[in-house]
Amino acid sequence: MQLPAGDLVGRHVLLGLSGGVACYKGADLARELVKAGATVQAVMTESACRFIGPATLQALTGRPVFTSQWDPRQPNGMAHIDLTRSADAVLVAPASADFLARLAQGRADELLSLLCLARPRERVPLLVAPAMNREMWSHPATQRNVAQLRADGTVVLGPAEGEQACGETGDGRMLEPAELRDELVGWLQPKTLAGRRVLVTAGPTFEAIDPVRGITNLSSGKMGFAVARAAAEAGAEVTLVAGPVALGTPRGVRRIDVASAEQMLAAVLPLARTHGVFVATAAVADWRPVEVAAQKIKKDGSGEAPVLRMAENPDILATVARLPEGERPYCVGFAAESHDIVRHAREKRLRKGVPLIVANDGPAAFGSDHNALVLVDAAGEQALPAGDKRVLARLLVAEIARRLAAA
Ligand code: CTP
Repeated sequence: MQLPAGDLVGRHVLLGLSGGVACYKGADLARELVKAGATVQAVMTESACRFIGPATLQALTGRPVFTSQWDPRQPNGMAHIDLTRSADAVLVAPASADFLARLAQGRADELLSLLCLARPRERVPLLVAPAMNREMWSHPATQRNVAQLRADGTVVLGPAEGEQACGETGDGRMLEPAELRDELVGWLQPKTLAGRRVLVTAGPTFEAIDPVRGITNLSSGKMGFAVARAAAEAGAEVTLVAGPVALGTPRGVRRIDVASAEQMLAAVLPLARTHGVFVATAAVADWRPVEVAAQKIKKDGSGEAPVLRMAENPDILATVARLPEGERPYCVGFAAESHDIVRHAREKRLRKGVPLIVANDGPAAFGSDHNALVLVDAAGEQALPAGDKRVLARLLVAEIARRLAAA
């Protein structure tokens, strides 16, 4: 069985656009949501329609856009009710200063604010992405409205700081479409790790030979970053200790960059005592050169290659798993194997003294966006369906949460 790849497959998003230059980004956001697998119903205010045409949103979402509560297409004349009952979330991007003010007051004299008011609050979260000039954003009236909206349970995403369409620089820029998509995906996940702290290692390590060379491996860090992200989405406070990788930090995750295995251990050990869960996905180099040359090693003309003396690196996972009871987090190891995957994983679980090992086919998974995982614990084995690393990471986090809740 193959898991669907999109983060929003099966989700229906009501995307609202209020008036502002950032409406062009709202169109891009519609595209991002559709690409992630969501069905999107766009609703635009009259002012939004002055910035971009409904036809653009219709083409991007594949659905006619609603712009008025008097729209005769709705057989019962109740667009504000019908549109929200099928939605998993209402996301207003851009949310103008005027729109925030209307929301804060509970106004209902045009379709978008009307349906925000009429949505079933318990089931359909309302997220708003403010976009406005920095003076408008910092004005006490806007700040008062935003505080009121937060108190009413509205999720306020951003705004970011930066260059604005008006030529000024400051707070008020709408978050980028990809950031808003990720925020929405996060909000829709069940909060199975709320109140927990999760520590994750990811990526390869780099063991220096001299100032320009070293020993590393092909780990991309994608699986570990996906686990960190999924844990944060599940409500955990997440610390990610990363070897050298070219990946952006998942939103809301604290990241510590290291190079060598010894640096990774030094970062992990004090943190392990303050985190309830430790997920070791890093592909830690097994050995390191004993001496690191201070200067680049040059060929000496003899035709002889230098001989490197190697020492074994500390086993970070096993070290954490040996911490005394009470200081030891729930430890999850990964086992990247090339053959006899489950047998090796079982042995590794016992050798490292951890409750759960996640086995995968190392050569196939390295660098790829896909993976297939087998969970190995004291009870036996459980194969997760093959799929995108981000989707798999969510399943894994759910499995970890289930085991923690049972313990
Ligand atoms: N690990 C670790 N520190 C090490 C080596 C491995 O923390 N020095 C962790 C990895 O992050 C992973 C698990 O241990 O969670 C298993 O890693 P793997 O490389 O598969 O196992 P090794 O112990 O290196 O065993 P082998 O090379 O014999 O397969």
